[in-house]
Amino acid sequence: MINSPIVEVADLNRVWVELDSRSYPIYIHKDWNILFQEAFDYLDRKKGSLKGKKIMVITDRNVHSLYHNTVVKYFREVGMEAITAVVEPGESSKSLTEAEKLYTAALKANLERSSFIAALGGGVIGDLAGFVASTYMRGIPFIQIPTSLLAQVDSSVGGKVAVNHSLAKNIIGAFYQPECVLMNTAVLAALPDREMATGMAELIKHGIIRDEAFLSWLESNKEALAERDPDMLARAVHRSCEIKTDVVVRDEREQGLRAILNFGHTIGHAIEAAAGYGIYTHGEAVSMGMVAEAHIARLLGLISASYIERISGLLADAGLPTTLPELDAGLLLEWMKHDKKNVSGQIVFVLPTAPGRVEVFRNVKEEVILKALEAALVRG
Ligand SMILES: NC(=O)c1ccc[n+]([C@@H]2O[C@H](COP(=O)([O-])OP(=O)(O)OC[C@H]3O[C@@H](n4cnc5c(N)ncnc54)[C@H](O)[C@@H]3O)[C@@H](O)[C@H]2O)c1
Ligand SMILES: [Zn+2]
Repeated sequence: MINSPIVEVADLNRVWVELDSRSYPIYIHKDWNILFQEAFDYLDRKKGSLKGKKIMVITDRNVHSLYHNTVVKYFREVGMEAITAVVEPGESSKSLTEAEKLYTAALKANLERSSFIAALGGGVIGDLAGFVASTYMRGIPFIQIPTSLLAQVDSSVGGKVAVNHSLAKNIIGAFYQPECVLMNTAVLAALPDREMATGMAELIKHGIIRDEAFLSWLESNKEALAERDPDMLARAVHRSCEIKTDVVVRDEREQGLRAILNFGHTIGHAIEAAAGYGIYTHGEAVSMGMVAEAHIARLLGLISASYIERISGLLADAGLPTTLPELDAGLLLEWMKHDKKNVSGQIVFVLPTAPGRVEVFRNVKEEVILKALEAALVRG
């Protein structure tokens, strides 16, 4: 259990991800200068001089036009030979076809064992570039520079990289940890509102599963966060990364504890699927899923109605939906029965048992699930 309160704003927020020889630092700040200085010092110590080393920066068209020139300048200043590969924004770029184009680009640029790949973008770019880095020459060094809130608090932490198959999402992939992660919270100013909210869903989830003090802090600072104050965002991203890191280092390969990160996702995934992919963002579906799953917890006598109000309030303030859409509850249940995380045909739920605490449940009765879905149609 983590119970350390939020740290005071330091010049730089760091999280050390302790995974034996695969350990690495995450740096969080609003200033590229500070981030790169720190990262280059670290890489220099760990890997030797970066001078003359090649780096392929993989990004998407949106992020390319916003931040590519700034980022590449730092790699060039330190003496690296930077080349760039730009892919189309969106989930469809997370494919083997796109990966193959990137292998070709890497070969043409003569990327070698000691060369680097950097992911500059949201979770799509992190997953795709990480997958290419994990497989090109059986794995070359990889740097994450996540630019969406979801990528900063979720997808760039934990080492899961993947591309999609036409029959299943994230089904071809690996566990592959980066050398380091650079998170600039000033870039979040340019993020579209819905993308910001989707990241907030996962950030708030981290408080619900592990840290009540963080929930209170989010409540007290909601205005500054809504204004995207980069210092406050750095503190929020920092705590969120600490929580996810703490879970991941205890269960790198998802054998047990890591399941708690799926709070809100059993019903959230069902909502995404039943509504039709693309209707809700992932975070919006998870937000509704968290409230509905909190209703299950209340029906089982684990939490009070006021805690559901508290969760809903946090999510609503972040611009997220908290009541279920008019979807057929029976259909949602069918989707839940097909969740790939189910064990021996039983739907797995992560349910809150107290503020800042959750537990895994495997034997929730169907009638309780249906009642909770019914209750989640109405706020509170
Ligand atoms: N590996 C993991 O553990 C993990 C965990 C969660 C999600 N994911 C994956 O992450 C992906 C979703 O990530 P995402 O939500 O970041 O989507 P995304 O990468 O598509 O980014 C969302 C949009 O925001 C744009 N964007 C990114 N940064 C920006 C910025 N600073 N300013 C303006 N626009 C910006 C992108 O161009 C894109 O259009 C999914 O493919 C999902 O499977 C992976
Ligand atoms: Zn999620």
